[in-house]
Amino acid sequence: MEKSDQVKTVKFYSGEVTPLEMHKVRVVQKLSLLPIEERKECIFGAGFNTFLLQNKDVYLDMLTDSGTNAMSDNQVAAMSVADDSYAGSASYYKLEKAIREVFNQQYFLPVHQGRAAEHIISKVFVRQGSVIPMNYHFTTTKAHIEMAGGVVEEIYTDEALKIKSDFPFKGNMDIVKLNKVIEKWGAENVAYIRFEAGTNLIGGQPFSMQNLREVSAIAKAHKIMLLMDTSLINENLYFIKIREQGYQNKPIMDILHEMMSYTDFSYFSGRKVSCTRGGGICTNSHDIYMKMRDLVPLFEGFLTYGGMSVREIEAMAVGLYETLDFDVISHSPAFIKYLVDSLDQRGIPVITPAGGLGCHLDAGQFIAHVPQSQYPAGALAAALYIASGIRGMERGTISSVRDAAGNDVLADVELLRLAFPRRVFTLSQIKYAEDRIQWLFDNRKLIGGLEWTEEPPVLRFFVGKLKPIGDWVDRLVAKFRQDFGDSL
Ligand SMILES: Cc1ncc(COP(=O)(O)O)c(C=O)c1O
Repeated sequence: MEKSDQVKTVKFYSGEVTPLEMHKVRVVQKLSLLPIEERKECIFGAGFNTFLLQNKDVYLDMLTDSGTNAMSDNQVAAMSVADDSYAGSASYYKLEKAIREVFNQQYFLPVHQGRAAEHIISKVFVRQGSVIPMNYHFTTTKAHIEMAGGVVEEIYTDEALKIKSDFPFKGNMDIVKLNKVIEKWGAENVAYIRFEAGTNLIGGQPFSMQNLREVSAIAKAHKIMLLMDTSLINENLYFIKIREQGYQNKPIMDILHEMMSYTDFSYFSGRKVSCTRGGGICTNSHDIYMKMRDLVPLFEGFLTYGGMSVREIEAMAVGLYETLDFDVISHSPAFIKYLVDSLDQRGIPVITPAGGLGCHLDAGQFIAHVPQSQYPAGALAAALYIASGIRGMERGTISSVRDAAGNDVLADVELLRLAFPRRVFTLSQIKYAEDRIQWLFDNRKLIGGLEWTEEPPVLRFFVGKLKPIGDWVDRLVAKFRQDFGDSL
C-alpha cells in the first residue's frame, strides 16, 4: 500500500477513533449564530424553504457542496496568474492538459456549470420518445431530458433505496432491469445510458467498477453510448479504492482511467469535482465532440472559456490534479462517516453505509407522524434550521413534481441532506450538528407538516414557498428555550 493510501484516522489514547484533517486552515470566514427567535423569523421569511435563507442568517451551510468547497493554497495561487483573453487563453490550455492527463480524455468542451452540460447533451442527443436509463436521476438532469422530450428510466438495485444497509455500492445499476428496459424501448430509442458517479439523490452512494464494466459491455453490445456524470467522481473513486476487491493498491489515476475507458463521453460540475465553479464535457470521440461543439459558443461562451472566468479555469486545472490525492478525496467521506455512524449508533435514522456527499437523515422515519403529503423532509429541514442555524436541503417530495392530474408524485425517500462541503467544517462544528440533531430527535413529536403558499411549476424546490400547518414552530421554540435556557 502506498503511504498516502492509508485512511487518515487516528486512534486516541481514550480509544475514540477520529478522522484527522490533513490540511491546516489559513484563511477563515466569520460565522454567526442567531438566537432561536431570530432563526424562527428567518425561516418564516424564507417560506420554510432553506434555499431562500440568506447565508448571513445561517451558522453551518450544509445545503450543498456545490461551489462551497474550500480551495487549496495552490488553487488560489493559480488564480492570480490567469490569462484573461476571450479566445485562446493560456489558462484554458492548462485546463485542457489537465483533462487529458487526469481524465485521459482528448476533447473538452467548457461550460459554466454542470446543468449547462446537461442542456447541451440533451439538446443534441435526446429526441421526443428517447429513453435514458440511469442508476438514478439528478434534478436538473431529469428536467433537461424531459424538456427535450425524453423519458428517464431508473434502474437502481433493490439495495439502493433501503435506508439501513451495509451494501457497499448502492449506486449500482440493476443489470436485469437494464436489459428489460432496452428490450422494452428498443436499443435504437435509447439515447444513451447515464451513470452518475456518487449518486446524489440516493445519499451520495457509489457504484462499483465491476458494475460499470458490466453495463459498458451491454451498452457496447447494443451500440448504445455510455455517458458518465463525473460531478461526484472524487468520492466514487475513494469508495472503489477502499471497498472494491483488487483496487486497494491501485493508484487513483489508474482507477479513474479505467472508469473513463468504459464511457463514450462524460460531463461534470466543477462546483463539486474541482472545488471551483464551472463545468465541462469530455470525450475521446471526435464525432461526439463535433456534434456538440457549436452549441458551446451559442449557449455558453467561446470554446476557450465556455462561460467560466479564467481565474476559475486556472483553479479548476489544479483542482482536477488534486482529485488524484487520496488525502483530498478521503477527507469528506471520513467526516461524513463520523457523523453517520454516531447518529446510527444513537438510533437516529440515517442512510447507511455513509456515502460521499453528506449525511442523509431519513425524515420518513424521523417524523413518521407527518404524512408524505405534508412534506416531512421539508419540515425536518426547517425544524433543524430553527433548532441549530444549520441549513440542510430537502430531498423528498418537495424536490419531486406533480403528475398530469396535478397530484404530487411522492418521492421514493424523504431525506434531509446535510452536505459536507469539502474541507470546510471542523470536527467541533460536526459535533454541534450531532448534538442538535439528537435534541431534535428527542423532541420530534413537536414537528408538524408544511403546505404550499407559492408553488412554481418547474423545479419548485428552488424558489417555492410554504408555511407550517398549525403552531408547531412556536412549540418547538418554547421547548428549546426550556431545555437550553439562554444558549444560542
Ligand atoms: C450529480 C450531479 N450532476 C449534475 C449537477 C448539476 O451541476 P451544477 O449545479 O453545476 O449545474 C449536480 C449538482 O448538484 C450533481 O450533483
